[in-house]
Order: sequence, then structure tokens, then C-alpha cells
Amino acid sequence: MLASRWLLLIIHSSLLSWEIVASSESGCKLVTPNDREERLKKKLEPLYGKTLEVTVPSKEKEGDVQYKYQMGICVDAVNDGKHQNVGMLQTKLQDGDQRTVGLYNATQLMGGDNWILLKYKDGQKYNSHCMFNNVSMNRQAHIMIVCDPDIVMGELQMIEENKDVMEECYYLFQINSKIACTFKEEGLSAGSVFCIIFFIFVLIYLIIGFLYQRIVVGAKGLEQIPNFSFWREFGKLQADGCDFLCRCGERQEMKMYRGIDDQLLNTERREEPDDHLLSM
Ligand SMILES: *[C@@H]1O[C@H](CO)[C@@H](O)[C@H](O)[C@H]1NC(C)=O
Repeated sequence: MLASRWLLLIIHSSLLSWEIVASSESGCKLVTPNDREERLKKKLEPLYGKTLEVTVPSKEKEGDVQYKYQMGICVDAVNDGKHQNVGMLQTKLQDGDQRTVGLYNATQLMGGDNWILLKYKDGQKYNSHCMFNNVSMNRQAHIMIVCDPDIVMGELQMIEENKDVMEECYYLFQINSKIACTFKEEGLSAGSVFCIIFFIFVLIYLIIGFLYQRIVVGAKGLEQIPNFSFWREFGKLQADGCDFLCRCGERQEMKMYRGIDDQLLNTERREEPDDHLLSM
């Protein structure tokens, strides 16, 4: 028994490590591999091999300068053999000028509830923007994958190009996808389990009680309900309780109109404690 368990454990863990090795050899390569990012990479797997593109007008250049962004999810964005490991490629449509925004063999992943941030780093260096210690930085693509439970993968949207900061410049994109969704743990809460057990007990009590009353005692009609007299008492008690709770307002009102006799009675009563004190 114990031996077979150990065997299962060993098989399972070796399969697990084989999976990790296999998945890290193709597709996205993490800059700093760790457990957390490997887990996020696994979540990304349904989108592996997909390519997307979006064309947006340039914000700063006048005229109709347009940029096309092509993206591959852990594959080459453009499969022409010239752009190996390029996960995000920018093409200026007017002159066909191309720039590597990020490489998928330099991937970084972050994630939280209902979002995953996929970063492709090591893109082509900036010329004049984004200098840090007089060294121009590499371009990088940040792709925010946001939970949308209804779709496997939505359109690629360009959010912004940020190149006015000194240290971290990036091209920000968004994709909606259900792979980013964090599902709440399914299953029953302690409360609902308690309720179900309670109702099962009530049901068993009623059925057994009913059969007992009918067959053993030979009761008829309402008497067949188990412990009928107790429940009738119980109902009465509840009614009394309601009466007391809901009608207490009426009693207070009555006191406001108390007669002289009442007042006299009350003053007499009030003197009692004082007498007690005096004698001490
Ligand atoms: C990623 O790919 C690029 C282009 O193919 C290559 O120059 C670079 O060395 C690779 N980086 C890593 C970390 O493998």
C-alpha cells in the first residue's frame, strides 16, 4: 500500500519535472525563471502559437503616419525567418521600416487576480529617447492580458507608447482573454454543508416519525406528524413571542395615559427602596 503510494508519487513528480523542462525549451523563455513565473507561463499555454496584429496612427507625427504592430504569443510574430525570437514587431507603413519591440526569449511575467502582464524585453535600442546613465535603453512590449470569461482571445489593442520617462520605456498593449481569469474555488462552503446536513436530518426525522406514528401508534390525520403536540406547543410559544415583541409598543402607550390611581400606586412603590435605606 505504502510502496504503491511512493511509486505514484515518484511517477507524478517525474512527469511534472519533465513537463517543466519540455515547456521551457520551446516558446517563451523567462529572463529570471522562478516558480511563480513558470505557473503563469502554464496559464498562458492555451494561447501559445497565436499571432495578432493592430494598426494605429502615430500620435506625434503629423499626416497619416501609421504603425502596424504584429505579435506572436511565444512564437515569431512574423514567420519569415528573418525575425527569430521577435515577439512584437513594429512596421512603419509609409516606408516599411521595421523595429523589434520585444523578444519572446526575454520574457517576464507578472500576474494577479484576473490579469497577467506579459513582457517581451530586449527590443531594439532607442536613439534619443529613454536614456539611462547616458545609455539608451532597449525597447520593450508590455502586454496586459485581462480576464474576459467569454472569449479565448480578443483583439490586440494598443494602449500607449511611453517614452517620456527616464528609466522604463515601454509599448503597452491589451488583450482580453479567459486565461487570465481567476476562478473562485468551486465547492461548498462550510455554511451550506451545515444547512444540507441539517435539512437531511429534518427530513429523516419527519419520515421516520411519520412512519412510526402511522404504523406503530396507528395515528390518523394531523396526529401522524411526529411529536405533534410538542410542535403545536412550539407554535403557540412562537405566537406568544411575536405578540410580546410586536405589540409591546401598545403597552407603553397605555402607560402614558395612566390615571391618578396609577400615579399614587407608583409613588408608594417608589418610597419602598428609600425606607430600606433609612433603616440602615
Ligand atoms: C534571443 O534571441 C535573439 C535573436 O535570435 C538572440 O540574439 C539572443 O541571444 C537570444 N537571447 C537569449 C537569452 O537566448
